[in-house]
Amino acid sequence: MDNKKIAVVTGGSRGIGKEIAVKLAEEAYVIVNYNGSEEKAAQVVREIKDKGGNAEAVKCNVASFKECEKFIGDIVERFGKIDILVNNAGINKDGLILSMSEEDFDSVINTNLKGTFNCIKFVSKSMIKNRYGKIINISSISGVAGNPGQANYAASKAGIIGLAKRIINVNTIVPGFIMTEMTDVLGDKVKENILSQIPLKRFGTPQNVAELAAFLASDKSSYITGQVINLDGGMIM
Ligand code: NAI
Repeated sequence: MDNKKIAVVTGGSRGIGKEIAVKLAEEAYVIVNYNGSEEKAAQVVREIKDKGGNAEAVKCNVASFKECEKFIGDIVERFGKIDILVNNAGINKDGLILSMSEEDFDSVINTNLKGTFNCIKFVSKSMIKNRYGKIINISSISGVAGNPGQANYAASKAGIIGLAKRIINVNTIVPGFIMTEMTDVLGDKVKENILSQIPLKRFGTPQNVAELAAFLASDKSSYITGQVINLDGGMIM
């Protein structure tokens, strides 16, 4: 392995995570994390290699403290470092709070918030030792402004904004409505309603998020840390 930066992208097998993995692979060796979708993660690795980059897919359920300890520990042992961590893995299980089950609350908090904590916790030691690290967390506009039917999701994404660190650069991206499989399931009426609240009059793309993540992962942003950056076409101003 040459001097390449080592980047880990959680939930990198599709959507925003996939796009971030492909973009970061222009400069870094990328670990494409997945939980269930082995074949899709392998496809992302193939796409990166076809473009001349290098990557590998590694399974880990970010909600599991133990799995994250092994996942991150193995990478640090093999490469001696992790330069970039993108906490992208996330789920939603929407429902009004009166009917929301304990399981739906816990699983969203465990994946989105605890999963982010787990990965940050285990990369921190090596990043602080190397006095270098870029952590990029993917929050959501729901975590800033709330959203009916998303008590679990909004709480998890608001919690992510509260996480911070020293010496290394930690920044949080707050996407608005990004066109992925997560948002695809929404009905046309809901989409129209959201669109009417976007001053730029269009939905965001995973590429829009990947461009910002790549900037925050690069040394061009070396003096930016502790920031929460909205990427929402102006939904929140
Ligand atoms: P997606 O559903 O297409 O992708 C999420 C990825 O996370 C999937 O690859 C999934 O397998 C992975 N994942 C889920 N649970 C996991 C676990 N326990 N361990 C490891 N991986 C796991 O969703 P999308 O849209 O690409 O979202 C990516 C991130 O961006 C999420 O954190 C989401 O909350 C956030 N976001 C998305 C917005 C959107 O409009 N699409 C808006 C704001 C935030």
